[in-house]
Amino acid sequence: MEDLTSVDASLMQKEVLEGLSKPQRQLPSKYFYDEKGSDLFEQITRLDEYYLTDCEKEILQANINEIAERIGSDVMLIELGSGSSYKTRFLLEELSALSTYIPVDISEEFLLKTVNQLRMEYPKISIIPVFADYTSHFELPVAEGSSQKQVIFFPGSTIGNFDPDEVQTFLNNIAGITADNSEMLVGVDLKKDPKVLEAAYNDKQGITAQFNKNILVHINRVLDADFDIEKFSHKAFYNEHAGRIEMHLILSQKQTVTVGDQRIAFEKGESIHTENSYKYSLEEFEEVVADWYSVEKVWTDEKDYFSLQYLKKK
Ligand code: AVI
Repeated sequence: MEDLTSVDASLMQKEVLEGLSKPQRQLPSKYFYDEKGSDLFEQITRLDEYYLTDCEKEILQANINEIAERIGSDVMLIELGSGSSYKTRFLLEELSALSTYIPVDISEEFLLKTVNQLRMEYPKISIIPVFADYTSHFELPVAEGSSQKQVIFFPGSTIGNFDPDEVQTFLNNIAGITADNSEMLVGVDLKKDPKVLEAAYNDKQGITAQFNKNILVHINRVLDADFDIEKFSHKAFYNEHAGRIEMHLILSQKQTVTVGDQRIAFEKGESIHTENSYKYSLEEFEEVVADWYSVEKVWTDEKDYFSLQYLKKK
């Protein structure tokens, strides 16, 4: 089947084979997000157990005046991620003086659909999509009227999906492509009762399980691989020591899979580690960003489950 996303198949093959050859087999979590995966993720954000989205909405709504004031006017808002959600619309709606909106996403088809819709709804805002993998280096379009302040919007605690070294590389990249006075509004999920965390990644309807398995469906399609999806089951748990939810796919039977020109033998019970989702304390997060950004303001929800943080480039 033709691949409609902007995924670079040769890079995907290299990264998939590298990850699968490690003693603890791994896959990069960015490969969840083909069109189907992005859709499944949207469904996750509407689940009762997945508190992250509701908490972030609550924070945005309760503090929108102060957030809008900090963002200011004549601004270029750069959103990392799909930009189709309620949060984006809410911000576009509330930031009356927004000049330019730049959604950055790896899934070209998903992004194009979103942009066409947003352009109709917000004809006064210049909307410039950037198809890019924001986990590696990418370029931002040069704004006409370069006086615009750049504000990165990185909601949803996607920053939690980076490992400690990846988060440093990411912040270094973003700080490197944005101007000196740039700022960032970032959603960060907080440490809390592991039961609440584990329920959020093991929903009763099994949507998260489908989302997890979709990484193999995506790899099968793009790389013409032959993972037998039925033989994998979803597992998600909180690793207290590392401060993160881990998602894995566990094999119920042994299986040999062909990816590119390689054949990979898996044993029964083996796991493929597909995602980490780090949970931070406020102090830990301040330390994580400290080389590039200062934390200017933190907003949390009523239960202190989630935070929205306003950062300024140092
Ligand atoms: C995108 N990211 C913040 C989600 C998370 O919670 O780590 C991805 C996700 N994985 C399973 N459910 C949702």
